[in-house]
Amino acid sequence: MAGGVIATLIVLSLVSRKPKPVLAIPEHATVTIETTRVDCLVCHDPTVEGTVAPLKPVHPHVWKKEQVACTTCHVVPEGGLAQAAGKNRER
Ligand code: HEC
Ligand code: HEC
Repeated sequence: MAGGVIATLIVLSLVSRKPKPVLAIPEHATVTIETTRVDCLVCHDPTVEGTVAPLKPVHPHVWKKEQVACTTCHVVPEGGLAQAAGKNRER
């Protein structure tokens, strides 16, 4: 039941707007498909003051559901972003 509601919400928000893939930036270097929403929210939580990239108020509200992973909508390349992030910044 609850799962159905969440699935419907996800589908509804997916058809209305397109979520961007997780960018290959140094901040995302540790992100993999296994990264949990809690780890994303360290930087993206709009309810915590001082996060580097807080979600906009217009962000689909499904993000607040603990059962929904950010990566359900925001695609992370297989193998994670460490490589991509490294390519962007010569080390
Ligand atoms: C160490 C901090 C940090 C973590 C952890 C982090 N991000 Fe980010 N994220 C950022 C920063 C900084 C930006 C860039 C904001 C900007 O350029 O406006 C960003 C941008 C984004 C964007 C916007 C892409 C775009 O094109 O506008 C998405 C989507 C995103 N992150 C998703 C995620 C997801 C999903 C996770 C967890 C799997 C995550 N982030 C974890 C710091 C982080
Ligand atoms: C239901 C799908 C969905 C889920 C789940 C989701 N997002 Fe998004 N996200 C979107 C969409 C759609 C946008 C808006 C893209 C646009 O307006 O161009 C977006 C935009 C963003 C952006 C760009 C800045 C902004 O606020 O518009 C960031 C950063 C982001 N999401 C991070 C996250 C994080 C972190 C989580 C998990 C806590 C998450 N998202 C969960 C669909 C989702």
